[in-house]
Amino acid sequence: NSVALSELERRRQELLELNLHLRREVEERFTSKNIVGTSSKIQDVRSMIDRTAESAVSVLVTGENGTGKELSARAIHYQSQRRSKPFVAVNCAALPESLVESELFGIEKGVATGVERRVGRIESANGGTLFLDEIGDLSMTAQAKLLRVLQEREVEWVGGRRPVPVDVRLIAATNKDLKEEIKQNRFRQDLFFRLNVIHIRMPALREVRSDIPLLATYFLRKHAKDLERDIQGFSQNAVKALMSYHWPGNIRELENEVKRAVVLTSGREIQVEDLSDAIVEERLAVPELESAMKSGEKQTLKDRVTTLEIQMIRDAMAQTDSDRRRAAKMLGLSHQGLLNKLKRYGLDN
Ligand SMILES: Nc1ncnc2c1ncn2[C@@H]1O[C@H](COP(=O)(O)OP(=O)(O)O)[C@@H](O)[C@H]1O
Ligand SMILES: [Mg+2]
Repeated sequence: NSVALSELERRRQELLELNLHLRREVEERFTSKNIVGTSSKIQDVRSMIDRTAESAVSVLVTGENGTGKELSARAIHYQSQRRSKPFVAVNCAALPESLVESELFGIEKGVATGVERRVGRIESANGGTLFLDEIGDLSMTAQAKLLRVLQEREVEWVGGRRPVPVDVRLIAATNKDLKEEIKQNRFRQDLFFRLNVIHIRMPALREVRSDIPLLATYFLRKHAKDLERDIQGFSQNAVKALMSYHWPGNIRELENEVKRAVVLTSGREIQVEDLSDAIVEERLAVPELESAMKSGEKQTLKDRVTTLEIQMIRDAMAQTDSDRRRAAKMLGLSHQGLLNKLKRYGLDN
């Protein structure tokens, strides 16, 4: 029996060590050091994370899909004192209206026939961090209840008798313009002020094009290793194609693209031909840019201005779903002025 006991104790120690090891690994994986990029916009993001991680203030992370909002939220959590407590991520857009409240706040047994008792996600994040993704999609009722949680530091279960105290740090993310949602009466202003203590804005990938080679190489190493492929890098033209694409799906799309190319390429270097049609075609659609880059010769100031102009126009078109009036406004051009440029650069199809 004592043999069995010491064996049990040994197994317990082993598990504790394994646990500690895994925890360290997770912590390592999710700090701001894993947010790749040297552009000043990405550096700003990293420094915001480093500066706010220690405190318990609410953080609002905004940005388009695939820009790294969740990655940043995790970095904040794993760099904070709360790192050994849970990080609970909830996608508000994925919760059906009828389940939102029980899922977030908890529900008592027997509230309706056949309902089992269920602890809410807020409470399961107790001591740690609650990440509410797509918070712009939360219903007005749930917003009111959430505000209460933040103010009173307690949750009320659906059908619960008395509130339960909770200590959570809230990080919220959205790709919507919450100020606009407030104007449309779809988002509570008081909740917005509560969330928006610190605001971290994730740049779209086309705003940090200079980071594309670094990110692409980072994903290449990762996936080449996973897929056990010996691939060294990208051809010059492949890099240029990646750098001139407008990336509506941002870093997530870039990662998928690189992964796809790693699978498809037959050589030790990824070529333009290994990239998706959309990326190759977009590059070919801009002859000026193409020839300026291909020649490798010294670019004149005019060439560079043209290249920049084309990129900015494409970006504005992408950001506005090709709404020419809004794009023109964004670029500080008249509507006709934009139409002229679109025509001149062959971007008007
Ligand atoms: N700066 C970055 N460096 C490395 N990987 C990144 C970076 N930004 C995003 N990623 C990766 O891109 C993918 C999408 O990021 P995610 O945080 O889910 O974006 P979002 O929540 O904004 O949609 C994830 O796999 C993430 O790890
Ligand atoms: Mg996300």
